Amino acid sequence: MAGDGTVATRTLSADVVVVGSGIAGLFVALQASERGATALIVTKGAIDEANTRYAQGGIAAAIDEHDSPEQHLRDTIEAGAGLVDEDAARVLCTEAPGRVADLVRYGVRFDTDGGSISLGREGAHAGRRVLRARGDQTGLEIELSLSSLVQRQGVTVIEHAPVQRILVEDGRAVGVETLVRGGKTLRCESPSVVLATGGAGRLYRFTTNIESATGDGIALAFRAGAEVRDMEFTQFHPTAMHRPDAPVFLISEAVRGEGALLLDANGERFMPAVHPLAELAPRDVVARAMVARMRETGADHVHLDVSQHEADWLATRFPNIYRTCMESGIDMARDPIPVSPAAHYTMGGVRTNTWGETTLPGLHAVGEVTSTGVHGANRLASNSLLESVVFARRLSDRLFGDETAEEPPAPSPGAHTLPPTGGASSEPPTREAVQRLMWEQVGIERDAEGLADAVGRLAAFEAALPPTAALEDHELRSVVTCGRLAATAALLREESRGAHYRRDFPEPREAWRRHLVFRAGE
Ligand code: SIN
Repeated sequence: MAGDGTVATRTLSADVVVVGSGIAGLFVALQASERGATALIVTKGAIDEANTRYAQGGIAAAIDEHDSPEQHLRDTIEAGAGLVDEDAARVLCTEAPGRVADLVRYGVRFDTDGGSISLGREGAHAGRRVLRARGDQTGLEIELSLSSLVQRQGVTVIEHAPVQRILVEDGRAVGVETLVRGGKTLRCESPSVVLATGGAGRLYRFTTNIESATGDGIALAFRAGAEVRDMEFTQFHPTAMHRPDAPVFLISEAVRGEGALLLDANGERFMPAVHPLAELAPRDVVARAMVARMRETGADHVHLDVSQHEADWLATRFPNIYRTCMESGIDMARDPIPVSPAAHYTMGGVRTNTWGETTLPGLHAVGEVTSTGVHGANRLASNSLLESVVFARRLSDRLFGDETAEEPPAPSPGAHTLPPTGGASSEPPTREAVQRLMWEQVGIERDAEGLADAVGRLAAFEAALPPTAALEDHELRSVVTCGRLAATAALLREESRGAHYRRDFPEPREAWRRHLVFRAGE
């Protein structure tokens, strides 16, 4: 009998245990099996259910003859507001075309035009650079292609199995313990554990992320002793459809890439006065400008107008968005779409080097769960699917090839710890209460007063968390841990940079051109 009352039933082992089944986890498993290694995927839901599935815009790669990895790198650095790790971003942009070729080899069919791959445009890119599939359902095509290949290749997959903890022996990760159907526990042992669990969008009340994006991998790694970095940087996507009584639905940035304009409550365009790229400025700039305009006009949304295009063209180019708008009574060819920002992407996460290695030996991480440094303080659109495949491939080279070029990351001097839990007595929080607190006090605009209050309340929440292993409580623990990391880092960072905006420190400060790293206290 395990300490928490659950029964340990069995142990499985593999050359690599991959936690998560979005693009990053599936890619690692495919690479492993191609190289003759055994891979075991453990995933919280079904094999083909992950945030990847809902990615609309696409995947960025400099494959056009007029483009170059150097230009892609310049755009990535510019969007990242002074915090991009240039070496990591160079790897990202240089290896992008090769990884797109891998995806094609794995069966992904990108949209073409006259025999060549079609390229779309999104914010802060110098030109058309974004590959897409099924119009605006790039993630669906990737998720279905890779998950079906994983199954055809006979990779062992354990579905509906939330990982409860990373097993650490003698300072090294040696596997994970997961809950399986019937409340039993399963030990998955491996010399190489890979977290590919995605981000923590569900920290926030309004988010484009699926229900299960609760930051589990970040929380698990932090508790196991790995370093976590940059958690104050959450990207808020400017254009989520504003429909108060229905789930948040993303209106892809590619719609603005095709000329859509943002209009305020008076029907006036406001972005040209804010940034030379207007509606295609970096996401943090657009989201904040929208919030400012909403405040000035007393509205709770603005409008996205793409009515310069014909209905047939819109229905072909954006089939999913077109259909969803129609279901909400909006004809994009005629009616402006009500939009407001929503949490979209976690720029911070488990600190890794460019080979997917964390500061805890044996523990690796790939995709949105990581902080590789490629996004800096604000991610360039469509660099996220790309990050997953580039670093999944490099991790596979490291684990199963003879790649030993770089030392694993050393512990950071001066890493922070979280303040102690406890404080004001608290009932166990609901997930909704945490999400509301994060949205209101650790959201698009922040200040010291709201952040300090959030840090205190989250510490009290943590002390009051129910100890059970049930999925709901497990996710709540992850949300609270990630929330504490984000709020504490945001309070410490006394400046504004990229997606982190402080009303009380509205400008970037040179002294803060550095990362904030957290490690669990002794
Ligand atoms: C979008 O389609 O706007 C999202 C793409 C991304 O987040 O990179």
